[in-house]
Amino acid sequence: MKINSISTIKNLAGKRVLLRVDFNVPLKDKKIKDDYKIVAGLETLKLLLTQKAKIIIITHLGDPGGKIDLNLSVAPLAARLQKVIGEKIKFIPETVGKKVEVAINKMQPGEIIFLENLRFNKGELADEIVFAKQLAGLADIYINDAFAVSHRAQASVSAVKNYLPACAGILVEKELQALNKVLKPKKPFVVVMGGAKINTKAPLIAKLYSSASQILVGGGLANNFFKFKKLEIGRSLYDSDSLTVIKKILKGKSQDKKIILPVDVIVKSATGKIFVKKINEVNKNESILDIGPKTIMLYAGYIKKAQTIIWNGPMGKFEEEHFKNGTLAVARLIAARSTGKAYGLVGGGETVEALKASSMMEYVDWVSTAGGAMLSYLGGEKMPGLKKIIS
Ligand code: 3PG
Repeated sequence: MKINSISTIKNLAGKRVLLRVDFNVPLKDKKIKDDYKIVAGLETLKLLLTQKAKIIIITHLGDPGGKIDLNLSVAPLAARLQKVIGEKIKFIPETVGKKVEVAINKMQPGEIIFLENLRFNKGELADEIVFAKQLAGLADIYINDAFAVSHRAQASVSAVKNYLPACAGILVEKELQALNKVLKPKKPFVVVMGGAKINTKAPLIAKLYSSASQILVGGGLANNFFKFKKLEIGRSLYDSDSLTVIKKILKGKSQDKKIILPVDVIVKSATGKIFVKKINEVNKNESILDIGPKTIMLYAGYIKKAQTIIWNGPMGKFEEEHFKNGTLAVARLIAARSTGKAYGLVGGGETVEALKASSMMEYVDWVSTAGGAMLSYLGGEKMPGLKKIIS
């Protein structure tokens, strides 16, 4: 694979660079809960500053659906970036138009402007030519450093590249290199999959199925497999269309040696009582909210032998004290095996949150800033944001 890299572009001094980042960070009461994505984007920004480019930063935040929603203004992101990079950043409360153009015309080399949430504009979501041309008109060159949103056909990652020379930022390059490693994995190759939605995980399970040694399943995802096996899952979450998806994954078989399911779970009863149950003991009034201790031991056995590991999706409702053990144990096991004995890759918003909660971030080889985009890339889907960026 050839990556059209920022490093091949000479002489950016004084050039207007449209830098698409993905600073779609988790917020609580308008406050940034975790700035991992912002910090991950610093390398490209520092390179552009050294080269004295005029830097115009664009990002989305949340999903305001093409309308202005000041709860989702990116002003706090600009302020946080200014703090972490230690450079002055001018925030403009608009994305395109006169005000933006005037501000850019006044820029000096080495200055940074941060524009308002791209998704306040319908044209962004519709990958609209008019909006893409407006964005492109602001700059001389476009850099995609937003791997995490590159699976979306949206103007700032897709159509804009038709109107400006485009290349990959350092973060996108690193994400691609890390993900490419697990596409040619050293064996045993262990895939740990959790989270809720089977439809978003199915292409990845299908794609990695032949190269994986084991696929360890947890979280809401496991409930779908239990349901498929006609086991009682009580009030637990599952996707109603999951049976068809699982049939496809298993290609008609009823059992599978590679897909490993929990043997015990932590359940909560209708009255709020918490129990450890074997998987055939769950009753109608209970909800499965974590994997159990025997499952942790079972999964540990596989993880401890792995040479390559991918983890996406928590093993349970880890944000609640009683149900965090499975997820945190998996985080520690993967971290203990990574950076040395195995190549460990972790991705997905909640998964990274869990890894952080276990203080294990630095012990994993690559922590992807992407969730859906990582699944999409590894699942072999065509990604609009990578067109003209890789060949
Ligand atoms: C992410 O957080 O996965 C990316 O920023 C993409 O966000 P989206 O799912 O709202 O498009």
